[in-house]
Amino acid sequence: MSFSENTRIGELLNEQAYKRDSQKQAYKWGIIGLGGIAKQMAEAISGTMGSELYAVASKSLDRARTFTKNVDVQKVYGSYEELVDDPDVDVIYIANIHSQHFETAKMALMKGKAVLCEKPLTINANQAEELISIAQKSNIFFMEAMWMKFNPSLNKLKELISEGSIGKVLKIEADFSIEFPPDSNRRLSEFGGGALLDLGIYPITFANWIVGRFPDNIKSKCILASTGVDGLDSVTFEWKTGEKAELSFGIDRLGTLSAKVLGTDGYIEVFPPFHGAQGICLHNSQEVKELYLPFRINGYEYEVEEVMRCLDMGLKESPKMPLIETLETMKLMDGLRSEWGILFPCE
Ligand SMILES: NC(=O)c1ccc[n+]([C@@H]2O[C@H](COP(=O)([O-])OP(=O)(O)OC[C@H]3O[C@@H](n4cnc5c(N)ncnc54)[C@H](OP(=O)(O)O)[C@@H]3O)[C@@H](O)[C@H]2O)c1
Repeated sequence: MSFSENTRIGELLNEQAYKRDSQKQAYKWGIIGLGGIAKQMAEAISGTMGSELYAVASKSLDRARTFTKNVDVQKVYGSYEELVDDPDVDVIYIANIHSQHFETAKMALMKGKAVLCEKPLTINANQAEELISIAQKSNIFFMEAMWMKFNPSLNKLKELISEGSIGKVLKIEADFSIEFPPDSNRRLSEFGGGALLDLGIYPITFANWIVGRFPDNIKSKCILASTGVDGLDSVTFEWKTGEKAELSFGIDRLGTLSAKVLGTDGYIEVFPPFHGAQGICLHNSQEVKELYLPFRINGYEYEVEEVMRCLDMGLKESPKMPLIETLETMKLMDGLRSEWGILFPCE
């Protein structure tokens, strides 16, 4: 059968939730930094069996109180210090802006708390290395909140590739471009803003995940935004084993938010936005098959489950999102910024 004769079929797949022993006490989570993503995670934590949203902290007590209007939580703090000092908090999710991750994560790790820290873990590899060293020396669980790695659709895509559904991978395409408002703090250098650290980290992580290695050759172009951070970037990766990735990301225009993996015997499209996909479509000479994997909550539940699974098993890092990968990605992004002449004020 040729590609064009294929009938398109669809299948709804259900992911199995991670099941904890119901006798075990729920993990008490604390969230630090109460902005947009914290709301999503509050919903995911509260909706996940075995996890409890116990405490939240903001630099502003008013913001913390406003945040908890529709959220069920026992402790509301107006400083980060109070939350990290709370002996009942088991795991801290850090959700403030990029430039604040280092100090906040350091403070939490120094208090012996397990930490899940938003991406990018830090603004550069030196900071990441220091935090990783603290976590490892103190034997504490630490993970970058790269939720994409736990996405059921993308894990299905990986499975299909390893089963040979599209043959050998030749090319990966991914775009993550959205238009940030002119006054967004994500456009500001002082906060570690710019397309690379905010959005580019997803297509970069995706490509390296699919190939299973960091690239051997990198070419890139960057157009600066009016605020001096990287605004519109394109990056090409090449591997000695023949794979290539063409990635784009930007904060000045809306892009396709799509991803595709092309192989010798077919290709797989990821439903946009690719980093939070709820389905994929496999095209090969046997079939065109859409696979739908809708989120149980909002997509963040899978990283919450991964943290619980690791803590239950006594692991200090996630095998799916290991710290060495976070560090190598930070180094790769440092390299790109250095090529583009972009330094953050605190560097
Ligand atoms: N995983 C994902 O899908 C996803 C999506 C969006 C963002 N993120 C990541 O999550 C983190 C937070 O993003 P967000 O969109 O939630 O950010 P946000 O709403 O702009 O801000 C989050 C928090 O950062 C602090 N903050 C923000 N602007 C500040 C300023 N001008 N001065 C001092 N502190 C400021 C505040 O913490 P306090 O409340 O303590 O004052 C605020 O509540 C970032 O690392 C981002 O890359 C991840």
